Formats: sequence, C-alpha cells, structure tokens
Amino acid sequence: PLDTALGHDGDLLLGGVPLTRLAAQFGTPSYLIDENEVRRRARAYRQAMPEAEVAYAGKALSCKAVVRWIDEEGLSLDVCSAGELAVARAVGFPAERIVMHGNAKTPDDLKAAIGYGVGRIVVDSLDEIDQLGSLARYPQRVLVRVTPGVDARTHRAIATGVEDQKFGFSLASGAAEDAVRHVLAQPSLRLVGLHCHIGSQVTRVASFELAARRMVGLLAALHAEHGLTLPQLDLGGGFAVPYLDGEDEFDLTGFANRVRVAVHYECQSHRLPVPRLTIEPGRSIVGPAGVTLYRVVNVKQGGARTFVAVDGGMSDNPRPSLYGARYSVRLVGRHTRAPRRPVTVVGRHCEAGDVLAADVPLPQDIRAGDLLAVPCTGAYHHSLASNYNQVGRPPLIGVRDGVATVLVRGETEDDLLARDLG
Ligand code: LLP
Repeated sequence: PLDTALGHDGDLLLGGVPLTRLAAQFGTPSYLIDENEVRRRARAYRQAMPEAEVAYAGKALSCKAVVRWIDEEGLSLDVCSAGELAVARAVGFPAERIVMHGNAKTPDDLKAAIGYGVGRIVVDSLDEIDQLGSLARYPQRVLVRVTPGVDARTHRAIATGVEDQKFGFSLASGAAEDAVRHVLAQPSLRLVGLHCHIGSQVTRVASFELAARRMVGLLAALHAEHGLTLPQLDLGGGFAVPYLDGEDEFDLTGFANRVRVAVHYECQSHRLPVPRLTIEPGRSIVGPAGVTLYRVVNVKQGGARTFVAVDGGMSDNPRPSLYGARYSVRLVGRHTRAPRRPVTVVGRHCEAGDVLAADVPLPQDIRAGDLLAVPCTGAYHHSLASNYNQVGRPPLIGVRDGVATVLVRGETEDDLLARDLG
C-alpha cells in the first residue's frame, strides 16, 4: 500500500497521493486509508473462499464510506453495537447480510438489531437468549457462540478461544449444548448455526483448522442427539497482518484450503451435510490499507535513549500500551544520508507509557518538524481512539487514484466542549 518506489525527495505515496501533500492539506496527526487496497483485500477474501460468506468485522474500522465499500464488494457485515448498526443503516447496508455480535448486548442493541431486521444475531449468554426470545418475532435467526477451547497463541487480551475468558459457551463443559436447547425452547428464535472466534492477530492456520474440526464435531453431536441439521458455521475472524517490515502476510490460501478440507472431511466422517461457512476478517481487510501521519514536536536525549515526541500518541493508537504492539516508523519528505540509529517514538500524553514505537531505526538527524508515517494502522486505531487529555481525535482521510477525501473530520475543541454541559 505505501508506494516507496514512486517517491521523490524522500516522499511516499498512498493511493497515488504524496504523504507530504496530505500532511499539508489535512494536518497531523491524521489517519489515511487507501480505498483500492481495502477493496483489493475484500476481494482477496471472497476469491480465496468463494463458497463462504465473508463478513467484514466493523469493529476494526467503521465509518459510512468504509461500510459502503464493503457493501459494494459484496461482503456481509459484523456489527457489535447499536452504534455500529447505525453506521450500516446510514448507508442502507442490506439487513440480511448483517450479523450482530457481543457478549453483553444491551436491550437497546437487541431492539436496534430486531428493528432493522438483521439477518443473524449471535447469542452469547442464557440471559440474552431469554431477552431476545421475548423481544424478537419469529423467525429471528440466531447462531450460538461457542468457545472451542483452542489457544490461538496471541496476546491474552485478544485470545477468545480458550475457556477462561468472557466470550461464548464452553464446548468442553457441555454449556454450548445447553445453550442450543435454550434457543430451541424459544418460539420466536430460529437456530441456524454455530459461531466461534478464537482470537485476533492469529498467525497459525492450524489453530483455525482445529477450531473448525471441533465445531463440526459439535454440529455432528447435535445432529446425532437432537436430529438437528444446522446449515451455517461461522468461524470468526482473527487473521494476522504484518505490522513490521519483513513480517509475513497471513497464509490466506493455506487457511482456505486446510479449513475447507478439514470441514469436508469431518462432515463426511459424521455423515453430515457441509454447512455454509462464514468468516469475519476485520483487521486483515483494513489494517495494511491504513497509515497514520505525525509531525515530530521535539527530540530529546533521556539517559541512553533518544526520544522523538510526536503530535499524537496513545489517544490515536493505544495498541502498544494495550497489547505490546510494535510498529515500524518512516521518515517522510526529506532525503538524508545520516545513518540510522534506534530511537523511541513517544506521544504527547501525560504518562510514561505513551510510547508508540520503542527502539525503531530512524535517521540520526531526525528533528522537530519532520513528518513521520506509521504503516499498518487502518484497523483498531480510528476505532480505538480516545479523547485522553482533551485531545481531539484525528480525521480519517480516504485516498484513491491520486485523490484525497475527508471521510471523517477531525474533532475540534468545540466538538469536545459541545457535550460538556457545565
Ligand atoms: N469476529 C468477532 C466475533 C470478533 O470479536 C472479532 C474481533 C472479529 C471477528 C475480527 O477479528 P480480526 O479479524 O479483526 O482480528 N482491539 C484489538 C482487537 C480486538 C478484536 C476483537 N474482536 C486490537 O487492536 O488488536
């Protein structure tokens, strides 16, 4: 996505637009998103698994333009709140292609989902099944979220396939089968399948394969014990992206082939019809299509370290502090022969943990006023941003074929004060 080959004067292009021009026009910090790259990635998922439904997980980046691109590319949409659903509604996203998630959907979330007629709601507690049962009208389609007991070996905060966390009904303990019975007892609900999501930023295809096998095993058990044939199996998202230079892309073809074979094999051995698969990529659709621009505010020597402080920080990217995430950083718009040395890029916020990138190589003559680009920031940046220290959230700028458009404007001090009623 970041086009280094065409750069001149140390500039870089995204979507055919020079980053220096974007910084001059829209200021810093700003989030950039490359529309063609989002669309290309969306298509790659559909092509890798033409038989499956691909539902984009809107939690990664949700705004009207992105959700419209997703619709135009023929994907479905995973929403997990009335707010994410409101974005979908604002662009007229077809209700039957929406799946609603959440471990603690509020009555408002459920009412919004029912009101819009979303295709499926993924239930995640017995209380929710009761609540939905009394709010919904037949046939509200539901999936039961199952915890398959697969350790996806990712950061603990985003590992959701193991037992000791809040999501899903345990497969091993029998809770998942109880939940299925609970849904079947609700006259307004129609159970159409099972769902699992083992975690996020998962690199190992084998983890998905194991989850798929276990889930088909549960489908088979339900078939044998209850005579149920569920037509859908949603395997969630979680496909890793390369954050650092030199890291590999997720093996999407390997995933598609191995999961397809595993599901077919298990179904065959249990004499079960093959369910329609759904996958829910979020990060891998938008992450690598995004770049964040910062301006260096000052450079300071502190002990053995050089601190390069920028005009953003943990309010626009809390991922390093939340998950120990690492990024590469590029100097943009200036050629230099200065050797590179490791520096620590920090934010402007009032805590020592506000580090965007520790020990990243940057030219030794880095100085105030320099422009920096952080690649792979399209997912869980705009959507995780906060107003910490009363800092307005950056704008989101779409770029495509040499043209830049403000998709979401930046927050002003007036915006911040508008909700403060004194
Ligand atoms: N489906 C479900 C049910 C999910 O909970 C998630 C992510 C996805 C799909 C999409 O996962 P993805 O393909 O984007 O990995 N804030 C964290 C990530 C949290 C992921 C939550 N669920 C981060 O910045 O790493």
